[in-house]
Amino acid sequence: MVTESVGRVHIVGAGPGDPDLLTVKALRLIRAADVVVYDKLVSPAIMALIPAGTARIFAGKVARNHHMPQADINDLLVGLARSGRRVVRLKGGDPFTFGRGGEEAGHLAAAGIAFEVVPGVTSASACSAYAGIPLTHRDLAHGVRFVTGHTKDGQPLVLDWPRLADPDTTLVVYMGRTSAGTICHQLIRHGLPPGTPAAAIINGTRPDQQTLIATLSDLPRQLEAMNRSAPTLLVIGRVVDLARTLAWFAPDTPLPRAGDAESG
Ligand SMILES: C[S@@+](CC[C@H](N)C(=O)[O-])C[C@H]1O[C@@H](n2cnc3c(N)ncnc32)[C@H](O)[C@@H]1O
Repeated sequence: MVTESVGRVHIVGAGPGDPDLLTVKALRLIRAADVVVYDKLVSPAIMALIPAGTARIFAGKVARNHHMPQADINDLLVGLARSGRRVVRLKGGDPFTFGRGGEEAGHLAAAGIAFEVVPGVTSASACSAYAGIPLTHRDLAHGVRFVTGHTKDGQPLVLDWPRLADPDTTLVVYMGRTSAGTICHQLIRHGLPPGTPAAAIINGTRPDQQTLIATLSDLPRQLEAMNRSAPTLLVIGRVVDLARTLAWFAPDTPLPRAGDAESG
């Protein structure tokens, strides 16, 4: 049962990086929080919107070097809420899309802590939009699938390859950088043409966004050659070709940022 006598935890999506993609509600909660528990994926530009006097706790994870175990993060949120504080649990993208928001909400529910979930713009939507890749298109893709390329402790990546190798559906892979070779190889093996357009969007929506446009057969090699270890989203399917004409975001051109109007 949820009790109202303790602090409330707001599980808030921060989007992929550009602070202008924060929801109005996310910004309002960030400004009103007593403490913000944040992940590594929350961009510096969004961290800069947290008021100077607000406590910040880093609960990020670095691949193969977990900074704070999930169980400890869950307990931390319960403890902070029980101390009566307004807690914002700030997560990259959308908390309920490959973000463990469900696990954290489940733990809070079990502990009787009031919580709410504020959706964020997930990187599939945001990075594809900023790269000029519509995820669906009447002539090119009648659906889209989101999957994760993350494997636990070096175990093999097990996905439903026959279904994913569908030329009429766009495939978006979160956490797919290190498994890009396996992913592309398996998709070709299960019938996708090697020339299928494929993209890797690195640090999407941020000032240093890079978009690699390649084919399924040469994406892994080109990605490796770029040698960047930043967050990377893979988009595979015919729609990727549209980036050649629809890419509009010029990362070198500074965008007006959320909060600029107030500071200036
Ligand atoms: C643990 S998942 C979190 C996803 C997040 N909850 C969301 O909705 O976007 C981390 C993965 O999201 C993707 N990602 C998040 N932010 C990104 C960005 N700015 N550019 C590219 N990919 C990003 C990458 O695939 C990264 O490995």
